[in-house]
This record gives sequence, C-alpha cells and structure tokens, in this order.
Amino acid sequence: MCGSGTTIDVCKEESRRVIGYDISPVRPDIIQNDARKILLEDNSVDMVFIDSPYGENIKYSNHPNCIGKIPCEDERFLEELEKVINESYRILKPGKVFRMGHFRYVEKKKVHPSRLQIIPNTR
Ligand SMILES: C[S@@+](CC[C@H](N)C(=O)[O-])C[C@H]1O[C@@H](n2cnc3c(N)ncnc32)[C@H](O)[C@@H]1O
Repeated sequence: MCGSGTTIDVCKEESRRVIGYDISPVRPDIIQNDARKILLEDNSVDMVFIDSPYGENIKYSNHPNCIGKIPCEDERFLEELEKVINESYRILKPGKVFRMGHFRYVEKKKVHPSRLQIIPNTR
C-alpha cells in the first residue's frame, strides 16, 4: 500500500532496508503484491508501515483487488483491512513496530469516520 513510494524514498534517505508493495505499482522499485498475502516469512521484519485506502473516495487503480474500491461504510472494507493487519502482524518480529495511517475523510460535507479499532497485542 505504498502508493507513489514516498515511504521508500524516506527509508532510503535514512539508509534503511526497505521493501515496498502495492497492488498497482507506479514505479519499478515497488513490488506488485496484495497486502493480504505478503511474500515474507513469519517474524521477519522490524517495522510495517501501511497507508491504507480510506474508502472509495479516491480512484487508486483499476486493479480488481484494490481495497479502495470498497466503500468505507461497507463491512467488507473493515474485513479486508483486518486481513492486511493480520498479515502485517504475521511478518512482524515480536515487539517491533506497526504503523498504519488510516483517517476519516470528508466528502461533499459528509464526514466518513474511521471505524477501525486496533487492540494492542502485547506479544
Ligand atoms: C492511501 S494510498 C497510499 C498513498 C501513499 N502513502 C503515497 O504517498 O502515495 C493507498 C494505496 O493502497 C493500495 N492498495 C489498495 N488495495 C491494495 C491491496 N489489496 N494490496 C496492496 N495495496 C493495495 C492502492 O493501490 C494505493 O496505492
């Protein structure tokens, strides 16, 4: 879910090892992959950083598996994001960092709140 790849750029500037995935990559250093099935071993990374779609407010791509095609009011939207979070948890080393950007958005004066609830797991 790394979109235009700004996260990759920041990691490289800080000399961090980084792997960027997106369902619809826009540049060659982003790997085409669905965030619900990440091609990494269990407990293998120090940080997962996700900037998820906020609903269908923006057209991200035509890819049929783009979660951004699902309206945020639809229960399936949260179900699919939950799969992404669970997959992130699987690849994260115990005690390491998960960071997810997920916001409410306003469209035609209607506020779409984020309904995501994250309960910390003290693994
Ligand atoms: C909010 S944008 C990320 C914006 C990014 N931070 C930037 O600076 O451009 C959400 C991204 O999630 C991607 N995405 C949607 N569904 C996905 C999926 N199933 N697996 C991986 N990426 C997905 C979209 O293609 C889009 O690039």
